[in-house]
Amino acid sequence: MEQLRLAIIGGDGIGPEVTSEARKVLRAALDGTVDLVETEFALGATHYLETGDILTDETIDAIAEHDAILLGAVGGDPRDPRLAGGIIERGLLLRLRFAFDHYVNLRPTALHPAVTSPLRDPGEVDFVVVREGTEGPYVGNGGSLRTGTPHEIANETSVNTAFGVERVVRYAFDLAETRSKRLTLVHKTNVLVHAGGLWRRITDAVAAEHPDVTVDYLHVDAATIFLVDRPSRFDVIVTDNLFGDILTDLAGAIAGGIGLAASGNINPDGTFPSMFEPVHGSAPDIAGTGTADPTAAILSAALLAEHLGHADAARRIRDAVDQDVAQRPAPTTTSETGDRIVALVAAA
Ligand code: NAD
Ligand code: IPM
Ligand code: MN
Repeated sequence: MEQLRLAIIGGDGIGPEVTSEARKVLRAALDGTVDLVETEFALGATHYLETGDILTDETIDAIAEHDAILLGAVGGDPRDPRLAGGIIERGLLLRLRFAFDHYVNLRPTALHPAVTSPLRDPGEVDFVVVREGTEGPYVGNGGSLRTGTPHEIANETSVNTAFGVERVVRYAFDLAETRSKRLTLVHKTNVLVHAGGLWRRITDAVAAEHPDVTVDYLHVDAATIFLVDRPSRFDVIVTDNLFGDILTDLAGAIAGGIGLAASGNINPDGTFPSMFEPVHGSAPDIAGTGTADPTAAILSAALLAEHLGHADAARRIRDAVDQDVAQRPAPTTTSETGDRIVALVAAA
């Protein structure tokens, strides 16, 4: 039987709660076809406060030995001064994305017919945001001068390389070819002229190789209008790291809530393990209450299964989620939702 080695990083807050449901569902979906070997890595704010370690090189090497990573969420109590400045988010989550060259941050959004969108008349909502994952303002290439004085100057530099932009744009075009062949580049070329110009030129050049894909461009501010007014205009959105972060929380909200939004941090070359995680964070406001929706984590596990070549298991997970959201009792709990979806997967 094929063996799959999964690195599990539950993380903080609701991260471990939703990840354990996703693991149950994944085991049920792969049962009998795959020998699933799960290795837990205790990482996150809690681990850091206990040990002083965020993510050592040895741990990165150990995680690299796995076929894929399933992550919950990281980030501790925002009021804790020891965690200020996103030390965990940058030192753990972003470090993993950079170390494993997750240059495609894939964030599909679809509104299930039984789920209520906050939009009055959402129309068809079924698109994928291809968010660049290793560049932009996320590289940490900034600094501040005269810190703490009235003359402080704080800089964050957005790094955009032709190599980095081209590879993610190519991925987005290839994806558009498999869908309804519509691609929207989202940027802010009217202000961010250097980075925007590069994204634009590369998109135009790659578009010439895909004459059947309809390409359109929106400034990011206008994109937020259309996401709310007419999300049906989108199929594949390709955008930079920061715009993609913001747009995908909005996308999650219009598709019925962030508790349903899944993502994959993909290393398409397969050199490093890809990492699958909900779009949401550690939700300290509801951690420990048993009310977190594990659906985003479960759908992230479906993306993981699909990425590892188990399309049938992925389909069974998605079908089970579809059935569950169509008849989900309210109120319900994190583990009850996981149990119902496991039962549906097992029955399929
Ligand atoms: P968040 O996504 O954690 O929470 C935003 C709101 O959504 C909260 O009201 C929360 O209760 C709700 N929510 C989130 N997930 C939910 C779920 N599964 N079911 C029901 N409700 C859910 O965003 P935030 O409050 O800005 O961030 C909290 C912490 O998480 C911060 O430390 C942040 O840096 C971190 N974070 C981590 C990740 C990640 O690990 N990938 C992503 C986003 C934020
Ligand atoms: C996400 C999160 C992260 C990001 C944070 C926690 C660094 O918001 O995965 O969307 O900005 O990418
Ligand atoms: Mn985010």
